[in-house]
Amino acid sequence: MKDKKRYLITAALPYANGGIHLGHLAGAYLPADIYARFLRLQDKEVLFVCGSDEHGVPITLGARKEHISPKQFVDKYHLLMKQSFERFGISFDIYSRTSNEIHHQTAQEFFLKLYNHHVFTEEVSKQYYDEKEAIFLADRYITGTCPNCNFEKAYGDQCEKCGTSLNPLDLKHPISVISGQTPILKETKHWYLPLHLFEEWLKEWILQEHKNDWKPNVIGQCKSWLDNGLQARAMTRDLDWGVKVPLPDSEGKVLYVWFDAPIGYISATKEYFQANPDKGNWESYWKDNDTALIQFIGKDNIVFHCIIFPTLLKAHGDYILPENVPANEFLNLEGDKLSTSRGWAVWLHEYLDDMPDRQDVLRYVLTSTAPESKDNDFTWKDFQARNNNELASILGNLVNRAFVLTHKYFQGSVPPCNQDKLTEAEQELIQHTLAIKKSIEDSMARFRIRESLNEAMTLVRLGNKYLTDTEPWKKMNTDPETTGHILNFTLQLIANSSILLEPFLPDTSARIQKMLNLPDSFRWSDVGNYNLIKQGQQINQPEILFTKIEDDEIQKQLDKLHQRKQQMTPETSSTEKPDKAAINYEDFVKLDLRTGTIETAVKVKNADKLLQLQVNMGNESRTIVSGIATYYAPEQIIGQQVCVVCNLAPRKIKGIESKGMILMAEDSNGTLRFIQPSETVSNGSVVS
Ligand code: 2FM
Ligand code: ZN
Repeated sequence: MKDKKRYLITAALPYANGGIHLGHLAGAYLPADIYARFLRLQDKEVLFVCGSDEHGVPITLGARKEHISPKQFVDKYHLLMKQSFERFGISFDIYSRTSNEIHHQTAQEFFLKLYNHHVFTEEVSKQYYDEKEAIFLADRYITGTCPNCNFEKAYGDQCEKCGTSLNPLDLKHPISVISGQTPILKETKHWYLPLHLFEEWLKEWILQEHKNDWKPNVIGQCKSWLDNGLQARAMTRDLDWGVKVPLPDSEGKVLYVWFDAPIGYISATKEYFQANPDKGNWESYWKDNDTALIQFIGKDNIVFHCIIFPTLLKAHGDYILPENVPANEFLNLEGDKLSTSRGWAVWLHEYLDDMPDRQDVLRYVLTSTAPESKDNDFTWKDFQARNNNELASILGNLVNRAFVLTHKYFQGSVPPCNQDKLTEAEQELIQHTLAIKKSIEDSMARFRIRESLNEAMTLVRLGNKYLTDTEPWKKMNTDPETTGHILNFTLQLIANSSILLEPFLPDTSARIQKMLNLPDSFRWSDVGNYNLIKQGQQINQPEILFTKIEDDEIQKQLDKLHQRKQQMTPETSSTEKPDKAAINYEDFVKLDLRTGTIETAVKVKNADKLLQLQVNMGNESRTIVSGIATYYAPEQIIGQQVCVVCNLAPRKIKGIESKGMILMAEDSNGTLRFIQPSETVSNGSVVS
């Protein structure tokens, strides 16, 4: 890619229908952030935009499931995602949302321009309609059997098993996701983007112009789409949530989410410059050929960003086209496909709660294993190993050794280094540093971010080797001058490494630079300078950069993952309920469990499931409200002996104060039965 005046970096707008998980991070957000930081470090003009995608079927279906309105639903998840990104340190210049007024306006204007230029074709066609719910069933509102691979749960827009892009009418045995009923066909009018008319242009633009600079996985997917031939695609939907179609007679119709969402990048840019007018204007980022638009996405978004959005931009005519669309493949988790519906995911907000100071560890692991050219696997064991054996043992160790020795021998004052007497090894290291800088520049230009991080770590490894080979701790008594020279050189190497690592490990880099007590932060162009820290400079005491991660911390994460999976598996029977975390004996003995006999039982008014019991506990009679009416008739249980949790704090249930809980066993059908002593014991006997 030629050098450009400015760079507009976008990361796919995530649907506001859940949290951010590791797959999201590895796919788009982390590489985009590293790339943005890398350019900023080189003093390039950069704008990094993102935001929540708040329209479309994933939102309306999600809201329906949670029994809240789409607005309440997106408000909740937008906030969660925004905060997770902030806490993790993703350096967006703006994180916007597509429910904003400015976005609705921008998307409608875009649509109207294409409409007025007769880009769309207007078609009345038959589409599936759910009569019971009175809605058209587009995209994920409908499932059925995939015509390609016979997978029975394919969606109306895509089969997740074989990846084929589908039309609801392609599905065999279609079923409404809402009512479970077979839909009927009903006529409706929509506006279509005639993608086939842009096919030749797309082939030229992608397969010729960009064949060498776009990643092979991206070119490969685009080629397959283009080889199969493109078809017109509807840009509107019959839905009541989204950006309204700005045409007369279009009541109940909204823009297709994949029409409006990418325009969200434009509206986010507008919003940024509205808030920061002194920083320039949005048009220079979208309409000037001297801007490079770089769009980071996951592989499931390739067709939308490489074919549909560029076609829209081209048809509109006022906007630049993406310079590159570096899509990553998928990240698997512990050898299995990541799936939020199966509970097989690691959520960023939970990670940050569990490991609040380990942002850089996650950045390091996800970058080292980034699925850049093929799917890759995240495992907690690998996470632990990379922290302990690489971050702590290589980077942390180098920094710690150099700082400790400088304090021990020179009271933290940087000793002199004779630049005229650099050894061959030292001169080579400086050459290595420059070569690594160049090699990272080349790799980053090809979006090989994983390779770039590895290059940066090479310098750290070389630094460790240098320190081990030169053994300054053995020289202090006899040759303090050489000892000082070595330590100075090592500190210079650490300063250089901190610059190389900044895009990848920003927090660690800042901590190292703070420990070096340097007034100004370094720039990329400083790399290769081994006189960054002046002689006599007082450095701070070293902090431990990376603490070791013990096995039990990893086990906790694995347990959490497996437990969530079990909880979310619908066919989970009670016998398969996940094991709970181990407790101490002291925790167990806090329970006051005793036997008692049920003396009276009556139904609770307006509560089908509840019985009000009077239980003789030996020295007292307790009122207990219990949810057992489905399993026992009141008359059936009089005189039965049961076990009671006596020291549970009293609770008002339907206005009755319940003082205790009856212990029950739940069998695999979900039926509840009393836990009873095998023979009658005196009331009030302690259960232990
Ligand atoms: O896959 C997704 O999560 C989409 N919401 C991505 C949209 S990217 C862009 F078009 F906004
Ligand atoms: Zn299929």
